[in-house]
Amino acid sequence: QKLKVVGINGSHRKDSVNKKLLDFVAEQLPSDIEYEYADYSEVPLFNQDQESPLPDSVKKFKDQVESADIVLFSTPEYNGSMPGVLKNAIDWLSRPGGQSSLAGKVAGVMGASPGQGGTIKAQLHLREVLSHMNVDVPGQPRVMCNYVGEKLVDGKVVLEGKELETVQKSNKRLIEMARAFKKEAVTV
Ligand code: FNR
Repeated sequence: QKLKVVGINGSHRKDSVNKKLLDFVAEQLPSDIEYEYADYSEVPLFNQDQESPLPDSVKKFKDQVESADIVLFSTPEYNGSMPGVLKNAIDWLSRPGGQSSLAGKVAGVMGASPGQGGTIKAQLHLREVLSHMNVDVPGQPRVMCNYVGEKLVDGKVVLEGKELETVQKSNKRLIEMARAFKKEAVTV
């Protein structure tokens, strides 16, 4: 069965290093896996008064995420947590009540930072939120791309050695989990 991965970035910045990390990790996916980047920069600030009808930008974003078997998050760390734009996006994805676009998905969590932290605190918070929403995130391996400035080649993130191995293992684990889920859905 063909699996689809949708990438979500915690930054809308044009030159975002997290977008570059997503691009690199997506390139490492096996060729039989479909990949699509979700641009949700038009999604407004959440307001429960706007849930019915949903704004077009939200509907489009939810449809795109619902088409995925695996949601791959890459996020910067802002002040020791995930950026507000990402939490806002997740809040929209969780609604309306009972219609979470992330239900039954497997998710990968990773991030890139210019400094040494590698977005660990943002990732821990994001994992907690996803766990609250019953989204399955593998505990290991963790893709934490620190000192990302040193890993840019012609404006792209290029990981090598152990870091490349971690990305490949992480992709493999996500695909295994998504396949196991799919199988279960068919046999039930
Ligand atoms: C940051 N940055 C940052 N970095 C970090 O490692 N820990 C942190 O807590 C923060 N806090 C923070 C707050 C705010 C408001 C901004 C704008 C930035 C720096 C951040 O890692 C850097 O700007 C990245 O380049 C952002 O990722 P993108 O947009 O390049 O993907």
